[in-house]
Amino acid sequence: MKTLTKTLLAAGLLTGAALTAIAQDAPAPEAEGGESRTSEFRTFDPTEDDWETFRSSGEITHQGGEAVYNSVCAGCHMPEGEGADGAGYYPALADNEMIAAPSYPTYVILEGQKAMPPFAGILDDQQVADVVNYIRSNFGNDFIEEWGEATAEDVEATRQ
Ligand code: HEC
Repeated sequence: MKTLTKTLLAAGLLTGAALTAIAQDAPAPEAEGGESRTSEFRTFDPTEDDWETFRSSGEITHQGGEAVYNSVCAGCHMPEGEGADGAGYYPALADNEMIAAPSYPTYVILEGQKAMPPFAGILDDQQVADVVNYIRSNFGNDFIEEWGEATAEDVEATRQ
């Protein structure tokens, strides 16, 4: 699948919009609120509906780090973790020493940070552990062996 399609798919999953059309590579409908961005540096501007999804509970049923990443993270951090700097700044997760140890990304994902929404309400402990391990072992990152895996128990202990 093309990168842009993946990005649209991620955004589409969040809005619940036109999934079928996107899956078939048909032209996606205009994103709500906006000018369409088609450049390589297209970024994802969450709509009010997206924020509602982020705040709601138990909406994300994807299992496994990759599926969780693609459904809720890739829209902002991009499919290959390269981040984006356009309408907003989304830090790259590729080659990012900040996520070497599992504790910091676990905390950020649960609690959110500035323009990143909190996911404590929509991801369970195992989903958070899986996505933390996924970003720490993909996009050129290789932090698990040295720094250890995040476990569902660690995530539970980090929840407030
Ligand atoms: C709505 C956009 C958005 C979504 C969705 C999102 N993030 Fe973020 N993320 C951000 C922004 C913006 C920051 C920078 C926050 C700041 O300024 O400190 C960030 C920061 C981070 C950081 C810290 C990076 C650093 O260098 O300090 C990690 C790790 C991270 N995000 C992982 C994830 C994961 C994993 C997901 C999916 C579960 C996710 N993010 C979903 C926007 C998003």
